[in-house]
Amino acid sequence: DKDCRTATIASTIRVIPDFPKPGILFQDITTLLLDVKAFKDTIDLFVERYKDKDISVIAGIEARGFIFGPPIALAIGAKFVPIRKPKKLPGEVISEEYSLEYGSDIMEMHVGAVQPGERALVIDDLIATGGTLAAAIRLLERVGAEVVECACVIELPELQGRKRLGDKPLFILVSAV
Ligand code: PRP
Repeated sequence: DKDCRTATIASTIRVIPDFPKPGILFQDITTLLLDVKAFKDTIDLFVERYKDKDISVIAGIEARGFIFGPPIALAIGAKFVPIRKPKKLPGEVISEEYSLEYGSDIMEMHVGAVQPGERALVIDDLIATGGTLAAAIRLLERVGAEVVECACVIELPELQGRKRLGDKPLFILVSAV
């Protein structure tokens, strides 16, 4: 059952204090990937939710959206489009800047990867401040795609990242407190 699966998934995520910086409690999904059942349940829960939603694009965010996105894309029959840190994609790109606590960062997507009118789902491992997902939504909407939803394994609800997504729905499996 669903709750049982999400409880097991939550138990496989390792929390590492002071990584990468003092004061940060890092949510490490590499231990989830070591647990064959937890990893499969994670993918299955997303596939069950999205298989009949007419989604043609899974946009995965570097780096851990590249782990969860492709198996979901294959299972639902959607293409996979990487959204990457700057200067990683070789073709023509569009870019979106987003603010961090100190400074800003940029995400890029290949021009031509997504067509106007396509229905997209954005996948990442975790939402913290929501800046990364918000930038991904803007990239997809700029090329005329409809972002149906964003989905992450983990949410850090204290940071209220959902607020940065406007009215875009966010689906998560595990809430970290
Ligand atoms: C983490 C995480 C998300 C992003 C969420 O990536 O995997 O992509 O931060 O943060 P936000 O909601 O505050 O924008 P990270 O910065 O560790 O980059 P990496 O995956 O390339 O290591």
